[in-house]
Amino acid sequence: MDLITIILAAGKGTRMKSDLPKVLHKVCGKPMLQHVIDAAKGVGSTRELVVIGSGAELVRQSIADVEFVMQTEQLGTGHAVLCTRDALAGIDGTVLILCGDTPLLTTEMLSRLVEEHSKAAVKATVLTAMMPDAAGYGRIIRAEDGAVEKIVEHKDATEDELKICEVNTGIYCFDLKTLFAALEQVTNDNAQGEYYLTDVLEIIRRGGDKINAAIAEDFTETLGINSRQQLAVAEKILRRRKNDRLMSEGVTLMDPSSTFIDADVEIGRDTVIYPFTWIEGATKIGAGCTLGPNSRLQNVTMGDRVTAQFIYAHDCEIGDEVTIGPYVHIRPGTKISSKVKIGNFVEIKNSNIGVSSKLPHLQYIGDCDMGAGVNVGCGTVTCNYDGKKKFRTTIGDNVFVGCNTNLVAPVEVEEGAYIGAGSTITKRVPKDNLAIARARQVNFADWADKRK
Ligand code: UD1
Ligand code: CA
Repeated sequence: MDLITIILAAGKGTRMKSDLPKVLHKVCGKPMLQHVIDAAKGVGSTRELVVIGSGAELVRQSIADVEFVMQTEQLGTGHAVLCTRDALAGIDGTVLILCGDTPLLTTEMLSRLVEEHSKAAVKATVLTAMMPDAAGYGRIIRAEDGAVEKIVEHKDATEDELKICEVNTGIYCFDLKTLFAALEQVTNDNAQGEYYLTDVLEIIRRGGDKINAAIAEDFTETLGINSRQQLAVAEKILRRRKNDRLMSEGVTLMDPSSTFIDADVEIGRDTVIYPFTWIEGATKIGAGCTLGPNSRLQNVTMGDRVTAQFIYAHDCEIGDEVTIGPYVHIRPGTKISSKVKIGNFVEIKNSNIGVSSKLPHLQYIGDCDMGAGVNVGCGTVTCNYDGKKKFRTTIGDNVFVGCNTNLVAPVEVEEGAYIGAGSTITKRVPKDNLAIARARQVNFADWADKRK
C-alpha cells in the first residue's frame, strides 16, 4: 500500500524574526524542510504533499520534487491537513504527518513509527516523546490502563495536565480515510480559536478505534525549531551526527568540533581533514585526500589523494593527486585534471587545466584552456577582460611560460612553444616557437660615474 506524507509548513515562524520563511532556514547547509522531505523519502514515501502559506513563493522556488498545497489562511494544523483533501481524493493508504520545522528527525525513527503503526493494525499512531521541558507542547493524556485518550494543547491544559511530560511530537501515522472523516468533525472551540489536528485522536477513539502511541527513543530527534537559539542547537546536533557518520565510514577528522561538513557531502575513506575546514553543499571528495587546515569547499567534486590547504574552492572539479595551496582561490567553472600542482597565491577561474601542468606561484588564470604538462612561470596573468568582454586564452601541451608573462586574450600559444620571461603576448605563438615580447635591454656604460 502507498505511504503518503503530508508536511505542514504554512505557519509564519514569527519567533525567527526573519524575512525568510522558517522552514527555509538552513541547518547543516540544507533547508529544514528539505531535511524533513529527505527523511520521508527515505522511509519509502511515494508522494510528499507540502502545505505552504506564508512565504509560499519562496518555498516553491527553493524546494523541488514535492507537491505543494496552498493554505491561504493559517487556521490551525487540522485545517492545514484538510487542505490536502482534494489532492488525495479517492486514495487509500497510510499517511505520515510531519512538520516542516523538525530537521532532526531521522529515517530510522520514521521507519520505526510506520512499522509500529502497521503492526498495531490501528487507524492512528502518534509519536510521543518524554520531554525534559514540555512547555509549549501538547500533552498526551492516557487512561488508567495506559491507552491514549487525547492530546491537550499547552494553552488548553489544566494545571494537572501541564505536569505531564509525555508530549505530542506532531508526528503521526493515520489511515487516510479515517483521518479525513475525523477532520470534518474538528471545531475551533479552544483557547487559540484554531482547528487542531490533535483533536482527531479523540474523535477517532470515540468512534470506537484504539489510538496507538509510539514513544521516540531519542527526544532530540523530535525537537521543533521556533527560534534562532533552537536553530543553533539543531545545527550543533546535526553537524555532530554528520561528523560521527563520516568517522565511522573511515574519514579522519583531526578535531570534529572545529570541522564543518554539510549534510549531503560525501567523503571517501582515509581522507584526513584538518581543523577549520568547511565542506559545503553538493561536495564529493575522494579517498586518501588531505584537506585543510582552514579551507572552504563548496560544490566541489574532488578525486582521490588530493592535498589542499588554506584554499577556497567553489563550483569546480579537481582530479586525482592534485596538490593545491596554500592561499589559492579556485572559482566556478574550473576543471583541474589529475596530478596538477597549484602552489601559493594562485587564482583560477572558468578554466581547464591539463594533466600534470604546474602553476606554482602567483598566477591569475581566467577563461583559459591549458593543455597537459604546461609550466607556468611565477606572476603569469591571463588578461581576459578588455573592460567590456571576456576572452579566452588557449595554451597547448608542454608549453613553457616564462615568469611574469601577460597573455592578452584572445590568444593562442601552440604546443611545445616557449615564452621568454616578462613577455606580453598579444598574438599567436606557433608550435615549438620561442616568443619574446619585451623591450630589448640597453646598457649605458659608466652611467653611474657620469651621474656623479
Ligand atoms: C503542534 C501540536 C502540538 C505539538 C507540537 C509539536 C497542534 C494543535 N498542536 O503545536 O500538540 O506538541 O505541534 O511541535 O497540532 N501549520 C500550518 N498551518 C496552520 C498552522 C500550523 O501549516 O494553520 C504548520 C506550522 O507551519 C508548523 C506546524 O504546522 O510547521 C505546527 O504548527 P505550530 O503552530 O508550530 O503548532 P504548535 O503550537 O507547535
Ligand atoms: Ca511548533
